[in-house]
Amino acid sequence: MSKKGYFITFEGADGCGKTTQSRLVQEYLDNKGYHTVWTREPGSYGLGQKIRELLLHYDGDVAPMCETFLFLADRAQHIENFVKPAVLSGKVVICDRHTDSTIAYQGYGRGEDIQQLEYLNNLATGLTKPDLTFVFDVSTEVAQKRVGDEKDRMESAGIEFHKKVREGYLKIAQKFPNRVKVVDANNDIETVFADTVKILDDFLSNQ
Ligand code: TYD
Repeated sequence: MSKKGYFITFEGADGCGKTTQSRLVQEYLDNKGYHTVWTREPGSYGLGQKIRELLLHYDGDVAPMCETFLFLADRAQHIENFVKPAVLSGKVVICDRHTDSTIAYQGYGRGEDIQQLEYLNNLATGLTKPDLTFVFDVSTEVAQKRVGDEKDRMESAGIEFHKKVREGYLKIAQKFPNRVKVVDANNDIETVFADTVKILDDFLSNQ
C-alpha cells in the first residue's frame, strides 16, 4: 500500500455532520494501515486556538475583513506548522474545514469578493491544496435543527446567511469537480458514511 501523505478536507454548512464523518473516515483509514491525524480550522493548536476563541466567542462588532484575516491568519499558521510537515512525513491529514469555508462563508455568505478571497487563500496556504474535499450537503432547515439552540457567533448569523453558504458550497463543487465531491448529508450517519467511503476508495485507488 502507498504510504504517501494526503490532505483531505471536510466541508459544509454548520450542522451538516462533517465532524462525525471526518472521525469515521479517520477510523476507516487507520484500520487500513494509514497514519492519520485529525485537525480543524479555525484553531486546532497553540496560537490557532486563541484565534478560534476570538472568532467564535468575541461578542463585540467584528468588521468583515477583520473576520476574514483572522481565519486566514489561523490558516497560514496551521498549514505551515502542522499540515505540510504531516503530509510530507507520509500522514493522511484529515482537516475539518479549510479554504472552501472562507469562500462559502465570507464570500458567498457575507458577500465579499470571491476572486480576492481566492487570492488571499493562496497567499495564506502558499498554494498547498487539498488532494480531496468532501462537501456534506444538507438542507438548511435540517442543519439548523441539528445545530440546536446553543449557537456560536457564526452559527447565529441567520437562516438566509446559511442558505447562501450552502449554495456557495455547491458552486465551489461545480467549479472544482476533480477535487470537490458532494455527499448528500440529509440521510442517516451510516448512509452518509457509506457514500463517503465510496468516494474515498475511488480516490485512493487512483493514486
Ligand atoms: P466550528 O465550531 O468549528 O463549526 P463546525 O463544527 O460547524 O465546523 O466553527 C467554525 C465556524 O467558523 C463555522 O461557523 C464556519 C466558520 N468559518 C468561516 O466562516 N470561515 C472560515 O474560513 C472557516 C475555517 C470557518
